[in-house]
Amino acid sequence: MTTTATNGTGSSGVWQLFRERMSRDAIYGVASYWDARAGARTGMARSLWPSNTFNALWDERQREIVSRCLGPMNGHRVVDVGCGTGRIVRWLAENCGAGKVVGLDFSAATVEAARAESPALVSSGIVRFEQGDVVAGVDTLGVGTFDDAIVLGCLSVACRDEAALKKAIANVARLIHKGGRVLLLEPIHRSPLLRRVLDLGVEEWIACANQAGLALTRVDRMGFVPVRLVFSVRDLPRPVVAPVFRAGERLLDGAPWLAPLSDYKLLLFTRTA
Ligand SMILES: C[S@@+](CC[C@H](N)C(=O)[O-])C[C@H]1O[C@@H](n2cnc3c(N)ncnc32)[C@H](O)[C@@H]1O
Repeated sequence: MTTTATNGTGSSGVWQLFRERMSRDAIYGVASYWDARAGARTGMARSLWPSNTFNALWDERQREIVSRCLGPMNGHRVVDVGCGTGRIVRWLAENCGAGKVVGLDFSAATVEAARAESPALVSSGIVRFEQGDVVAGVDTLGVGTFDDAIVLGCLSVACRDEAALKKAIANVARLIHKGGRVLLLEPIHRSPLLRRVLDLGVEEWIACANQAGLALTRVDRMGFVPVRLVFSVRDLPRPVVAPVFRAGERLLDGAPWLAPLSDYKLLLFTRTA
């Protein structure tokens, strides 16, 4: 992986977002891009969308869909790969009863921000944030020591091709014990408009996971694309955005055939080998 400097500061303009999308293959998979975002944006916009109004709704929806899928996690040891500034790590420790949570990210500035936002959890030892690259290998976190691994929106930017995805998923699978779970919640697309760096379909993701000894146990979806495209870039008042956002998510929940219009796909696996 290259470490070319990037001017992708992630400002909130539509034009900036468009420029970033045009050069995504060069910037999204590079730590300096995420370092720059950690310095240039505030709140969840450092790791998510430019609009923090939209991010609050996105965060609520992701927590709902992850808990619907994983159920109670009392005492579980969990690793969040590509954790960004740590919103899900904190939620797992504070609200889901997880016993130990490790957040991993390859961006030094993002890891620093995550630690700075979680002082009590870090000093209590319940939470730890580490810097590392999921494609290169993350065995130092502890092979086979976790019950659950979760990955939200990381592998689709971290991996350039199928070989990298195979390596990254195998690296995540190595962290959990046999019988443990891997939850992927990722923008999986082949469309040039919606794909991030990786250009692979859901079936290919599942095949990569199967090769890593993971068996698919559940699928789900979220992020109704038309709403996401309109509301994720500019901060509008929550009373305007929330009803439309929730209506889009209800559509995805109620009509599985609308799955192609979902930005993020959830794939839950159990480690069998
Ligand atoms: C779209 S953000 C998602 C952050 C977080 N999972 C969330 O949903 O709030 C993608 C994150 O993946 C991290 N990332 C990208 N490539 C990575 C790699 N090869 N190894 C570890 N982290 C990586 C980035 O630094 C960034 O924080």
